[in-house]
Amino acid sequence: MNIVILAAGQGKRMHSNLPKVLHPLAGKALVSHVIDTARSLSPKTLCIVYGHGGEAVRTTIDAPDLAWVLQEPQLGTGHAVMQALPYLGDASTTLVLYGDVPLIEAETLKQLVHAARDALAILTVELPDPGGYGRIVRNDAGVVVRIVEQKDATADERSIREINTGIMALPTARLAEWLGRLSNDNAQREYYLTDIVGMAVAAGLPVRTAHPQAASEVLGVNSKVQLAELERVAQRRTADRLLEQGVRLADPARIDVRGELVCGRDVFIDVNCVFEGKVVLEEAVEIGPACVLKNAQIGAGSRLAAFSHIEDAIVGPDGVIGPFARLRPGTELAAGVHIGNFVELKNSKLAAQSKANHLAYIGDAVIGSRVNIGAGTITCNYDGANKFKTIIEDDAFIGSDTQLVAPVTVGRGATLGAGTTLTKDAPPDTLTISRARQISIPGWKRPQKAKK
Ligand code: UD1
Ligand code: CA
Repeated sequence: MNIVILAAGQGKRMHSNLPKVLHPLAGKALVSHVIDTARSLSPKTLCIVYGHGGEAVRTTIDAPDLAWVLQEPQLGTGHAVMQALPYLGDASTTLVLYGDVPLIEAETLKQLVHAARDALAILTVELPDPGGYGRIVRNDAGVVVRIVEQKDATADERSIREINTGIMALPTARLAEWLGRLSNDNAQREYYLTDIVGMAVAAGLPVRTAHPQAASEVLGVNSKVQLAELERVAQRRTADRLLEQGVRLADPARIDVRGELVCGRDVFIDVNCVFEGKVVLEEAVEIGPACVLKNAQIGAGSRLAAFSHIEDAIVGPDGVIGPFARLRPGTELAAGVHIGNFVELKNSKLAAQSKANHLAYIGDAVIGSRVNIGAGTITCNYDGANKFKTIIEDDAFIGSDTQLVAPVTVGRGATLGAGTTLTKDAPPDTLTISRARQISIPGWKRPQKAKK
């Protein structure tokens, strides 16, 4: 089939400088949801009709399999499809989708396209409140005869609750003729795509209807209110999918997945966590409340306590992380690593069983196994212009409040005394300490404020 995605509408009611179809839903542009679903149907051609000011849509979304069609000015949905005609392949069916109806499911579209083999097929749904939509007019035998827009409808027609979702599958061979015959003699002075339904009936071609599994599939976005409503629908869908896979969610209404979340067996996720990009949680991982994970992999059996923030990082199995831990890009933790509160890691590797439990900054470091990093330890990795590496070998013990001025190496089994400022390599199996000797001065007096 051919697929045409209509995305030329302005989206005035979004009150935004960003074109409507670029607004994110579950971390992905509205139109990208539609494009991805369209791709899953392997169309012969995939056209996107975009409008004036929509250049940003094209540059943001462009890919080799997309044909871009500028519609300027925008004279209606029929006019929009007409602009795409020269780009359509010779596939027998052309499917029309809306760029601002993001939650449509591939399964629904397959049924619609199936219904269109020797017919024109429209996706319809019955709504308790059909206000604003085009209505499906059927004859006494229940056969569809035409679609009437709200603004052109009689009072009787407005009482019809079956509405046009706008999504339809059309016989490509008839399109040019039908679109050529459209007129804009209607309440909105637009060329309505919906008018071809009446033409199909007149030509003796059957008109069939298909219906979505859930009405939420065909909800459109015209305002921030609707965008927020659809976000909840999308998040709930993802949460239900996770629950069905066996993930335990403290509350399926309080999780946000803005990308892909892959979970092993017996994963638990507490409330208010945000997952972005691709996140993998292996078997029996537990995520505490209010954690943020972006492009991360968490090894089997690891536990993240509340408010941990993890980006472009890998946590090995059986890790104990947080609360308030920050793992920045390039962090790689091996098995059984403990990272405690207010510890920031960047571009650093920690081998198995190493611990940094309190208040530390570890940047550009390679740390061996069973190393203990004391509270307040800082790798001074940056001189204002260049970054330098810190190496800490297996079984080293870094005393509290130590600064490691990189480049520097702490040898295997070495101990650094608390408060050390390390500027030269520390030899293995040795205590290195750099602080001044402690003295007490008898009779010393604090400075006094002058009496007035
Ligand atoms: C359209 C349908 C209506 C249906 C409703 C469902 C027609 C005439 N009416 O009405 O039966 O119930 O959708 O939401 O088709 N667009 C363009 N170029 C244009 C006009 C629109 O690309 O010149 C795109 C818009 O970006 C949008 C879609 O087509 O994605 C629908 O446009 P919209 O103005 O929302 O259509 P409605 O008047 O609501
Ligand atoms: Ca609309």
